[in-house]
Amino acid sequence: MKAAKLHLRVRAAETIAPSLKSFTLEAADESELPATGPGSHLRLALKNGSHGWRNAYSIAAASPDRREYRIIVRRAAYSRGGSAFLHEAVQPGHLIEAEFPGNLFPMVQIARKHLLVSGGIGITPFLSYLGHLKALGTPFELHHFCRAEEVAIFENLLGEYDSSRIFIHPEATQFDLVETLRTQPLGAHLYVCGPAELMDLIIATARAHGWPASKYHSESFGGVHAGGAPFVAILQRAGVEVRVGEDQTLLEALEAAGLEPSCLCRGGACGECRTEVIEGVPEHRDHYLDANERATNRAIMICVSRAMGDRIVLDL
Ligand code: FES
Repeated sequence: MKAAKLHLRVRAAETIAPSLKSFTLEAADESELPATGPGSHLRLALKNGSHGWRNAYSIAAASPDRREYRIIVRRAAYSRGGSAFLHEAVQPGHLIEAEFPGNLFPMVQIARKHLLVSGGIGITPFLSYLGHLKALGTPFELHHFCRAEEVAIFENLLGEYDSSRIFIHPEATQFDLVETLRTQPLGAHLYVCGPAELMDLIIATARAHGWPASKYHSESFGGVHAGGAPFVAILQRAGVEVRVGEDQTLLEALEAAGLEPSCLCRGGACGECRTEVIEGVPEHRDHYLDANERATNRAIMICVSRAMGDRIVLDL
């Protein structure tokens, strides 16, 4: 799929709770979908007559053959917007345009353990983490907070994962957050996704108990790290110049130009998109290159990083 936009078709829509609906999406032309990694999200451009919404949803699962993405949408209590439209009007066969997947919440590959804390629909990025962690066998611990009446729904959603590491807390339960943070092994990373109050509380508590900023992560849609000043990428081997717009990542611009650079997580974490820099200075935004590699400016992670000036020459 080489277009700047993804053209998706809803393959299946399933109500999993009164307020939760699962959608399975495939490419409208049945081609392979872009690769994604744990924490990737998809921004859908939804249209209902003259109304339009651009909403981002975590990709809860992507099939290994890259034919399907699964998202789970919570209908907001008083929504007349995108979530209500998805719940009420979108059925199998519906065509939806989307941006290429992004990832602002990648898993840190070098973590010795992953401590995941979510609330409500904030579980969705962790569903993709859990699939990955299951395959890798890396230690993890998940604490999920939800309404008492939704415990069974989340137990069901999480049913295929190691239940000895998963703790579902109805809202009213007492939970010793300080003790949980204190007893994590060296090298553990904390990830939080859910309502703002929950994220603020967890992050503030972690900070107050000595967790460095590099070891805690929270999901925040909006693409604040995706854009920046436009620049031109010159692909030396291909003999092609690609303009990278202010709202695009370098990777997206290359894909929009019909190229298929290697990528996986789309969040600067996995190393898959590492590209040699021949000329120019990258603005490093990844979590992969170490300080020495950054200082030499000889490599760039094209999924998140940009050029400092108005041009960069790449070994592509
Ligand atoms: S695709 Fe993973 S670091 Fe760029």
